[in-house]
Amino acid sequence: MKFTVNGRTVEVAVEGSESLLRILRDDLGLYGAKDACEQGECGACTVLLDGVPVCSCLVMAADAEGAHVVTVEGVTPAEGLHPVQEALLDTGGAQCGYCTPGVVVSAAYLLEHNPDPTDEDVREALAGNICRCTGYGAIIRAIVEGK
Ligand code: FES
Ligand code: FES
Repeated sequence: MKFTVNGRTVEVAVEGSESLLRILRDDLGLYGAKDACEQGECGACTVLLDGVPVCSCLVMAADAEGAHVVTVEGVTPAEGLHPVQEALLDTGGAQCGYCTPGVVVSAAYLLEHNPDPTDEDVREALAGNICRCTGYGAIIRAIVEGK
């Protein structure tokens, strides 16, 4: 199947019900999207599919045929970091960091559509991103302040 990842067209062989997450990690070496629950529960695997955040573990790879996928690697600028990434580092919002790529993708999407979000907007946007190791205070502060 052929699709676009971070602006690059790629062609990969897909077997049966393989997930988009598997293809990104195992075939394309894009390890930013994390493989945590593989059940759509945690958001660690979040990517943008045609501009919308999705859990890539729940997307069948074959269904991404012709789609435009953006991973955290694509959200990150060629030089330096996205403001949300900087702010997460500055506020201590990235602890173990396992959830961080998914948080960054969700936050970047939010800020693109709502450049001045309230705490409540951020909480809603991150509802699908589970952080196992910290409260959400620093993460929310990072997104509200780092925009
Ligand atoms: S790994 Fe996809 S939602 Fe948890
Ligand atoms: S920083 Fe560890 S799961 Fe969120």
